[in-house]
Amino acid sequence: MKLIFASNNQNKLREIKALIPPSIEILSLEDIQYNQEIEETGHTLEDNAAIKARTIFDVTGEACFADDSGLLVDFLDGQPGVKSARYAGEPSDNSANMDLLLLNLGKTENRNAKFQTVICYKDATQELYFKGEIKGNITHSKNGTQGFGYDPIFTPLGYSQTFAEMTAEEKNKISHRKNAITQLILFLNGLK
Ligand code: IMP
Repeated sequence: MKLIFASNNQNKLREIKALIPPSIEILSLEDIQYNQEIEETGHTLEDNAAIKARTIFDVTGEACFADDSGLLVDFLDGQPGVKSARYAGEPSDNSANMDLLLLNLGKTENRNAKFQTVICYKDATQELYFKGEIKGNITHSKNGTQGFGYDPIFTPLGYSQTFAEMTAEEKNKISHRKNAITQLILFLNGLK
């Protein structure tokens, strides 16, 4: 079976290929020579994952999936959420995004937050959603150099280190993305 992943992110492709059964061949957007930008105009992670999966399904008619992730902070009513990549504006700047988030949280004690990943799977007969999340807290300052995005200011529940102080292996075992991919893979295993 062939399955298109509506992404060219090499890290995500590698992670998914390592977990998926060998009977399923994963193709990236580059593999299918799709070079256009897909506008992520949705108001939720679900919307954006669906926009990407539907766009690629409409073009190819083949089974495909897409993902969208973000950080949701309780004190900020779920912001930056779907705007995580560009919270501090264009162009996307991880350091500026974290600075703005820390500024907006100020000294509040309520630092509860969660990362979420939504995967939308689409084929000729169904459109399905798989959601993964990890809960944690926003720190008062940046710690660690690993990872990307908001990793230096997010400490998962039950841990004392931020994501950016963990190895990629440690983070990828517990991450929101891993959680959503695991659910997708359970479903795909049933399709084989
Ligand atoms: P994407 O949908 O996976 O590209 O994620 C959108 C944005 O959410 C990223 O640009 C990051 O700002 C943030 N984000 C998503 N996942 C993570 C993560 O694992 N660590 C830190 N930030 C993340």
